[in-house]
Amino acid sequence: MTVPDTLAFRAIDEAALNKVAAGLAAGLRDGGVLHLRGELGAGKTTFARALLGAMGVGARIKSPTYSLIESYVTGDLAVHHLDLYRIADPGELEWLGLADLTAGLHLLLVEWPERAARALPSPDLVVSLAHAGEKRDAVLAAGSTRGVAWLRRLRKGIGSGENASA
Ligand SMILES: Nc1ncnc2c1ncn2[C@@H]1O[C@H](COP(=O)(O)OP(=O)(O)O)[C@@H](O)[C@H]1O
Ligand SMILES: [Mg+2]
Repeated sequence: MTVPDTLAFRAIDEAALNKVAAGLAAGLRDGGVLHLRGELGAGKTTFARALLGAMGVGARIKSPTYSLIESYVTGDLAVHHLDLYRIADPGELEWLGLADLTAGLHLLLVEWPERAARALPSPDLVVSLAHAGEKRDAVLAAGSTRGVAWLRRLRKGIGSGENASA
């Protein structure tokens, strides 16, 4: 399926990136899969934190850099935040028990999804972050009709045109 829907934000500061993440949050209550791409320090964890905070995750939001996974429950939604940077090969994912994690209503936020190859469910949305001087470029690309709906909702929330292009 090709779902050619993207939303790009150029050279935004951290506050603006947090606003984008928070703007997505309300639409994600029905669960799904979000991949976070970008080199070290690009802002993947920052984005996930802002998203989780806006979804009402009250707990202190730790980076899963060392634990590989941090899980939360908000309402009836299980949210799993993964960081696969330290995965050497996709087989190492097995002990995570992805099948169990994705059995009920769930949202997966995955940093370094490329380390998992095909062991991960395909994304509804891919957020690609890149350094732009001191700031960051963020490109949000839908991978499913659900992702398209997330972007549509985000566009409404942030108003049209605000440093965004379709
Ligand atoms: N526009 C921005 N968006 C996100 N992070 C930013 C931005 N500007 C500066 N930063 C900083 O960059 C760092 C990003 O780190 P982090 O989110 O852990 O990256 P990653 O998880 O991609 O390795 C943080 O120290 C954050 O404060
Ligand atoms: Mg990180």
